[in-house]
Amino acid sequence: LVKEIYRESEKYANQTVKISGWIRTLRSSKVFGFIEVNDGSFFKNIQVVFEEDLDNFKEISKLPISSSIVVEGKLVLTPEAKQPFEIKASKIIIEGYSSSDYPLQKKRHTLEFLRTIAHLRPRSNTFSAVFRVRSIAAYAIHKFFQERGFVYTHTPIITGSDCEGAGEMFRVSTLDMKNAPMKEDGSIDFSKDFFGKETNLTVSGQLEGEAYALAFRNIYTFGPTFRAENSNTARHASEFWMIEPEIAFADLNDYMNLAEDMMKYLITYVMENVPEEMEFFNKFIDKNLLDRLNNVVNSEFGRITYTEAIEILKKSGKEFEYPVEWGCDLQTEHERYLTDEVFKKPVFVTDYPKDIKSFYMRLNDDNKTVAAADLLVPGVGEIIGGSQREERLDVLEKRMEEMELNKEDYWWYLELRKYGGTKHAGYGLGFERAIMYLTGISNIRDVIPFPRTPKNAEF
Ligand code: 4AD
Ligand code: MG
Repeated sequence: LVKEIYRESEKYANQTVKISGWIRTLRSSKVFGFIEVNDGSFFKNIQVVFEEDLDNFKEISKLPISSSIVVEGKLVLTPEAKQPFEIKASKIIIEGYSSSDYPLQKKRHTLEFLRTIAHLRPRSNTFSAVFRVRSIAAYAIHKFFQERGFVYTHTPIITGSDCEGAGEMFRVSTLDMKNAPMKEDGSIDFSKDFFGKETNLTVSGQLEGEAYALAFRNIYTFGPTFRAENSNTARHASEFWMIEPEIAFADLNDYMNLAEDMMKYLITYVMENVPEEMEFFNKFIDKNLLDRLNNVVNSEFGRITYTEAIEILKKSGKEFEYPVEWGCDLQTEHERYLTDEVFKKPVFVTDYPKDIKSFYMRLNDDNKTVAAADLLVPGVGEIIGGSQREERLDVLEKRMEEMELNKEDYWWYLELRKYGGTKHAGYGLGFERAIMYLTGISNIRDVIPFPRTPKNAEF
């Protein structure tokens, strides 16, 4: 394994090793040359030295970048050089030629340009680091919840209910829309459709997650979710991954404690397991990244109520594009002021006005606010949204009526309150936003392999 050879190169000194990979750079003179090879399994390149005694020396000297090769040779420690060792090639086999118009030549490319070659960008340093962090972070999330006995629950992608009640859903239908069957009132008759009713791609697995929490106590989901909101921002995607834990016999504080532990575990795990990648981000993307993440792990997250947040924003003397009034939704500019200028660390904002939040959030005794909490982090803004759930059937029904939701659509969700309902809470962590936070990458399009955003499904 290249990672092991790289990290413990002394053990392999003067031994013959065999590696294979893709050429990242190649420099050659008449009698010798250097190749930086990346074998894919590890972020760092391996330096290969070759000399004219190779029978295919001329051919190797002219290989285009990204050609794939197999190298055999002696590992020589190079303590005074940038890389810890190099391989003196005794044999180089060419596996696959690359064409000389390969778009990722050595010069630095913009992230915007690299988006146009989403199929090749994982071969660049930046994306090689991003997507290895993404993989390790996913593993860390599973590890965190599995170690605590949470049951990993696979909630459906195709669903008949709208969790957020916001109507931002992608319809799933087999009907030919040009000749769709109509009801008398002129609307499309989905009872003739594949599932016999109107279905959509899920916006959240929470409602189904609640059903499982009321059987298994502690569960989590981790899967793709979809939102048909037409917002072209750096932190919204139409398809994104969400982690949604749901815990029974638990309230809002239990949720916040769990979320804080999870975030700290995630950050620590990633810093410990992909240090080379994290150093790369610290050097090239965000010079304060590692300091900031270390501080987060070692301090307590802030906790303020929405009402307190509004007071802070009003007193700030800042001219916001969206004016601040009790009752307004917090905009990105408000969140960023709270995290980047006031707290300078992650902060939970709790107890939002009920009118700007979803129907399932538990109504507080003031009858004006709900037991909700969003986690805001510097540089990204909202990374987690969650709440204690309304377990009182009568209060929930009243709330749904107020919000003009069709109770029949949610019959099974309401039954959970009828058959041994308990207090329970949960939250959703946006996985892409977590990766942005961990890497310092500022656009969501650069932390998901093939991003889906409005007008963007090229790959
Ligand atoms: O705040 P949201 O909408 O909450 C829910 O969906 C709840 N049902 C979660 C729960 O309580 N189980 O979304 C949760 C998180 C947000 O904080 C954000 O990080 C992310 O999901 N998110 C998005 N990420 C990327 N693109 C989008 N369009 C996103 N919408 C939400
Ligand atoms: Mg939210």
